[in-house]
Amino acid sequence: MNVVSIKDLYEKKPIGESMLIGGWIKSLRKSKAFSFVVINDGSTQKDLQVIVDDKFDNYEDFVKCTTGSSVIFDAKIVESQGKQDFEAQANGIDFFHAAADDYPLQKKGTSMEFLREVAHIRPRTNTFGAVFRVRHALTMATHKFFSDRGYFNVHTPIITAMDAEGAGEMFRVSTLDPKKLPMNDKGEVDWNKDYFGKESFLAVTGQLEGEAFACGLGKVYTFGPTFRSENSNTARHLSEFWMIEPEVAFADLDDVADLGADYIKYMIQYAMDNCADELAFFNKFISKGLLDKLNNVLDKPFTKITYTEAIDILANSNKKFEYKADWGRDLQTEHERFLTDEHFQGPVIVTDYPRDIKAFYMKQNDDGKTVRAMDILVPGVGEIIGGSQREESYDKLVARMNEMNMHQDLYKWYLDLRRFGTVPHAGFGLGFERAVMYITGMSNIRDVIPFARTPKNLEF
Ligand code: 4AD
Ligand code: MG
Repeated sequence: MNVVSIKDLYEKKPIGESMLIGGWIKSLRKSKAFSFVVINDGSTQKDLQVIVDDKFDNYEDFVKCTTGSSVIFDAKIVESQGKQDFEAQANGIDFFHAAADDYPLQKKGTSMEFLREVAHIRPRTNTFGAVFRVRHALTMATHKFFSDRGYFNVHTPIITAMDAEGAGEMFRVSTLDPKKLPMNDKGEVDWNKDYFGKESFLAVTGQLEGEAFACGLGKVYTFGPTFRSENSNTARHLSEFWMIEPEVAFADLDDVADLGADYIKYMIQYAMDNCADELAFFNKFISKGLLDKLNNVLDKPFTKITYTEAIDILANSNKKFEYKADWGRDLQTEHERFLTDEHFQGPVIVTDYPRDIKAFYMKQNDDGKTVRAMDILVPGVGEIIGGSQREESYDKLVARMNEMNMHQDLYKWYLDLRRFGTVPHAGFGLGFERAVMYITGMSNIRDVIPFARTPKNLEF
């Protein structure tokens, strides 16, 4: 068919040339001998105005089209009479489909909540077109950032037997018939009879397999779907989200903290270079001051504090928190937001958390109380990255696994990495949707993933 995208038109401005142009109608204004039709095809934030004379045979039917209808014009690009860069003059209407009367996106001002109910139609809106073009750009930025720095992309498994984060928030994968579950002598379900011959789940992380690859290829990263059955109905939790997990051999916590800060800055710069129209749109309509806020982050190093220092700052602030910030307990969202939005007014790297609230694999500090963990917190979102230096000592790792009553046979292979040429290594996970939220200023995580999965919600 050879339909030209509106994005290409804005790049080339081919005044005087004719071509096929397709799009969805945003508005159709009929006047005496012609109509003004504004279309968008999703390739760019910008719309195209097309002038359609009444001389075409199908004109009378076409002008009944309302918002949401589709059209393909044969059209010539001409200098604009109005304030646009250029416009198109139709030579003919090659195809159109009038949307049914109950098209859900009639007028502006539809709420985000309503748009979630029509998640199959919302890619047509200015807001969601912009979100998903930025999401694409950040995907490309991610691969470019890591690949340019010598990291190899690894596809880690989605089905697993391991609860690597130890939080027990896993979705079961099973082919057993729930009405006829096989039982063993102890009256428990006999998972040996299940598809994999053991209990199996969707992965909460690809980190452990990432470590195996880092201890062979040196520097790797994953970029994959991640599943958590935590019952969190918040604006920053999904049951299915995408995570990027770099893992680096011959590296310590400071190395990956710097890597995380550089990666976030790189994504911001990449979005600015490739999605200027979208960011301008967010700055104007979604989050005023977004561009200043992002620009500010680019020139400064991220503040780095220990968890213990964070607790002191929170305890000495005059702020009333719902939950008190006590040493030994995880930081709540309200604590993270106070540090980033009020106290430091920028991203913060918090390191050396209490070991009892963290996963088994983290490197133990000499104090016996903390581990070499880090979270990167950003304004408006909170935790965007969680990472750590990994325990490379076989004995310390086994001791910790015993303390935590872990199923050792599942992790024998993981312990092997500490038996055959162990090395200091570290990595982190970045929640991709949280990064998209941060860079677009969108305030609910359900609005930065195409089709959100959250507790009691599995539409589309
Ligand atoms: O802090 P988390 O749980 O860390 C890990 O999974 C490690 N294995 C990462 C590593 O060291 N390789 O998760 C990492 C990030 C969080 O900082 C957050 O941004 C995101 O994943 N995340 C979620 N995003 C959306 N919905 C959820 N339910 C999320 N849980 C974590
Ligand atoms: Mg975390």
